[in-house]
Amino acid sequence: MKTVIRNGRIVTAVDDYNADILIEDGKVAMIAKAIDAEADKVIDAKGRLVIPGGIDPHTHMDLPFGGTSSSDNFETGTIAAAHGGTTTIIDFAVQYKGQELNEALDVWFAKAEGRTSIDYGFHLICTDLPDSRLPQMKSMIDQGVSSFKLFMAYPGVFLVDDATIYKAMQVAGANGGLICMHAENGVVIDAIVKQALAEGKTAPKYHALTRPTKAEAEGVHRAIALAEIAGTSVYIVHLSNSDSLEEVTRARDNGTPAYAETCPQYLFLDYSVYEQPGFEGAKWVMTPPIREKWHQEKLWRGLKFNDLQVVSTDHCPFCFKEQKELGLNDFSKIPNGGPGVEHRMSLVYNGGVAQGRISVNRFVEITSTAAAKIFGLFPRKGTIAVGSDADIVIFDPDEEMTISAKTHHMNVDYSCYEGMKVRGVTKTVLSRGDVVIEEGKYVAKPGRGQFLKRGLAFSPR
Ligand code: URP
Ligand code: ZN
Ligand code: ZN
Repeated sequence: MKTVIRNGRIVTAVDDYNADILIEDGKVAMIAKAIDAEADKVIDAKGRLVIPGGIDPHTHMDLPFGGTSSSDNFETGTIAAAHGGTTTIIDFAVQYKGQELNEALDVWFAKAEGRTSIDYGFHLICTDLPDSRLPQMKSMIDQGVSSFKLFMAYPGVFLVDDATIYKAMQVAGANGGLICMHAENGVVIDAIVKQALAEGKTAPKYHALTRPTKAEAEGVHRAIALAEIAGTSVYIVHLSNSDSLEEVTRARDNGTPAYAETCPQYLFLDYSVYEQPGFEGAKWVMTPPIREKWHQEKLWRGLKFNDLQVVSTDHCPFCFKEQKELGLNDFSKIPNGGPGVEHRMSLVYNGGVAQGRISVNRFVEITSTAAAKIFGLFPRKGTIAVGSDADIVIFDPDEEMTISAKTHHMNVDYSCYEGMKVRGVTKTVLSRGDVVIEEGKYVAKPGRGQFLKRGLAFSPR
């Protein structure tokens, strides 16, 4: 099968030029000023950007959490991701207490098998890592699961102690793996939550008011210190605020290989979402919570100057009806997480490029290339180059759309960005050369996505 994309403006993390692309057998076969080869399919990209497919390295499809399960499974969630120009997700498998790492991974393989429309990889959340189980991390890395998430939050559920974090960092580092850290001081947060509930503070806004930025920044500081002691790198997930960013910036300025992602919710939303009437604020109950508005420009600055490397979504949707409502009388029982996988590319393009905060190359880098490099997918993914997978998005930089639950494809009954107008729309999406989205319509079949056996974590500065 041969496909030619003509007349587009190819933008990667480093390039920006007009050329045609020939795709053969799912790979980029040739890039040239003009390609007149015979093709089975010709796509005209005139007036549009031709960019590497987005990589979202932080999703939770079908995740049992907070007494329920995230409402997108691997079928609905990857279709939604594709609509928004994301062609790869890295989802989080979970090892529960008592499980061997392989057992945990098998459960997530079964969840994804036959359902995905785009390619996918896994990180592994580890919750039970006695010394005897640490060597299993190497076997995970050998199987292409080269990153692990550890939690400093959620005592009794996900939290692991500092000694475990330190030892896991040593093993990961020695074997080319990477620790992704949920950095929040969960022990202190739990004490604050208990105090709030004892005072009768049960509304959704108390989720935010019981998770101070300093509790996150302390976790970030500790995670980086532990990585320094272990002599390895660390990747901070869902960084939400300026205090935490300062910890990462200071470490990087000192030469520590610390990396971090933020998410659209922290770039575009602010604390006022929790002050909406009634139970409405539950829609934004996620961890870390959404912060005061002034943090947003600090995060953009971090993205611009590479103190933050990646924008992921932490997509973890729960319906407002029945799921978020589990916490109607107690904010601590509201399942933590929100939807986002579909709108990341448009939101970041609009807030970043259209509003003049970052270049179009940096847009590609933070939505695709950097994640490919950090998580062992580059150069197969994350760029458009001869030999790379033809994961390509044809993106209209001028078209506008209004985000709404009425039109989105995520399996959730609300949008965090309802009514927000954005410039920059994904039109056509190719995954390994197959057209998955054509002019906004899903044209593929679930099950075509492949598991990505990732390489070792490679850490770009
Ligand atoms: O609220 C969130 N972020 N839910 C998903 C789990 C996690 O900590 O990433
Ligand atoms: Zn987390
Ligand atoms: Zn998450």
